[in-house]
Amino acid sequence: MIEGILFDMDGVLIDSEPIILHAAQAFFARRGITANEEDFKPFVGAGDRRYLVGVGERYGLSIDFDIDRVELYELYAEAAREAVSFAGVHQFFADAKRAGLKVGLATGSERHKALINLAAIGLKEADFDNIVTGEQVVRNKPYPDIYQLTALSMGLSTDQCLVVEDSIHGVVSAKRAQCAVLALPNSFGESALTEAGCDVVLDTLVDFGRFSSIGEFNERLRVLRAKEGVIYGANRIEVSQSGHPSQFFDEAIQAALESRRNAYAPYSKFKVGAALVSAKSGKVYSGCNVENSSYGATICAERNAVLHSIAEEGTVGIDLLVVVTDDDPPAPPCALCLQVLAEFCRPETEVHLVDTAFAEGRGGAHEVHRFDELLPYPFIFPTMRQP
Ligand code: THU
Repeated sequence: MIEGILFDMDGVLIDSEPIILHAAQAFFARRGITANEEDFKPFVGAGDRRYLVGVGERYGLSIDFDIDRVELYELYAEAAREAVSFAGVHQFFADAKRAGLKVGLATGSERHKALINLAAIGLKEADFDNIVTGEQVVRNKPYPDIYQLTALSMGLSTDQCLVVEDSIHGVVSAKRAQCAVLALPNSFGESALTEAGCDVVLDTLVDFGRFSSIGEFNERLRVLRAKEGVIYGANRIEVSQSGHPSQFFDEAIQAALESRRNAYAPYSKFKVGAALVSAKSGKVYSGCNVENSSYGATICAERNAVLHSIAEEGTVGIDLLVVVTDDDPPAPPCALCLQVLAEFCRPETEVHLVDTAFAEGRGGAHEVHRFDELLPYPFIFPTMRQP
């Protein structure tokens, strides 16, 4: 149950991208540099230090942010007079407060700038249960630290918080912190935000609709999230997806390779490593084969990975599976494993079969199959079958 809302500031509460862009361009113009909008894009959402220093590096200008920030924020404060907040912000904020949700601000920007921004849109520090700014964390977004700290300081666990974000760095930060994330496409497109793992994308906060209690708020969120849900496995589990599977491919390969090194296979000497990507969390879980003197008690790598994931996070939806062997061609999961996997995979779940050479980046073999190619007719318990 969500009990608090953590707002990002720039690009969520206030349309500050044009303001900081304007200020930074004026800053560079004073030094004879014409920086264009595209130069700044890679640094949006990563804090003003990176924003200014990153573009400075591109033009060979070394910036001492601790000194230059004074000038930057003078330019910023001038430009902020034109500031506007986004549609629905004030309504949503007021509904949240009235409903009894806690509200926090978690911005990678520095406090001085946060206060300029809040004043520009008619909010004040006392409107929030807490404000955490960039100086308070060592690692800014996309690390999870700022959302963890903000939630904690408000007496909430991160999974009790909905984060409202607009940037890719911000969405990744919030998801890594295990918060629910509502993204607004104010700075990046819907597909990029979805790929970064957000749970819901709305054009503006107006589309969230009105609510007057925490219960109503959660029900509305559930409906919005369910729209994004995908059905996994024989039991038709609905799971929201945290990102596109291919995003996790390299991580899964490395995890499977590493796990394979731990295989306990004194009888067959055939070592197997497997790794799966959980659709909900984007986390990678691995497993190796563990043999037994009573041969039949042997556990395969794939089932080991499934058990590992469920032990850690409960029922999973599997978005991607990697199996690493030294076989030629690389071995598929056995029929027993496929039947277990059928419980948690979609027909289109990607199954990557690779050999160790491929996993180690030395060429080698790599095959990709849809799960239903490998097991077209899983056994499904009669009462669980679709009508
Ligand atoms: N094995 C797996 O780990 N996964 C499979 O899907 C096929 C077989 C293991 C089990 C046993 O330890 C060894 O490979 C030889 O069968």
